Amino acid sequence: MEFAEIIGSEDTNNADDRSKERHIPTIEVLRDHDDTGNDYIHVVVGENVKHPNTPEHHVEYIELYGRTKMMDTVTIGRATFGPGVKPDAMFGLVNFGKYREFCAIAYCNVHGVWQNCIEIREELRLTAGCRREKCLQEGFGV
Ligand SMILES: [Fe+2]
Repeated sequence: MEFAEIIGSEDTNNADDRSKERHIPTIEVLRDHDDTGNDYIHVVVGENVKHPNTPEHHVEYIELYGRTKMMDTVTIGRATFGPGVKPDAMFGLVNFGKYREFCAIAYCNVHGVWQNCIEIREELRLTAGCRREKCLQEGFGV
C-alpha cells in the first residue's frame, strides 16, 4: 500500500461529492492582509458543506506545507481542534515569494486524511497588496 492511496482528494473515486466537499480543505491566500502587511494562508474544512463537529466525529487537525521554487517541501504549521471547534486556521508566512505551491492536509477521526493543493502563478506571486476579494477574483485560493 502506498500512503498516497489512503489520502482523499478531489480525485478520490470511492467518495461521493458531498463527502469530498465536507473534507477537502479549502486554501485561500491572503496577501497584505492586515495593517502590518503580513501574508497568510487561510485553510478551512467544510466551508460549503459543514463537517460534523462532535466528539465521535470531528476534524482533529490541519497541516499546511509549502513547496518552494527550488522544490523543497517546507512544513509551515499544524493547527489542532477538538470537538465543537470549527476547523479553520490562519498560517502566517514570512516569505510568500519563495513558494510556488501550498498543500493542506486535514484529518477527520472517522474518514481519514484529505488533501488539497494550490499552485501560485508567477504573475500573481509578484502582485503587491492583493486582498482577499481581488486574490479570489484573480485565481488565488481556487
Ligand atoms: Fe468526516
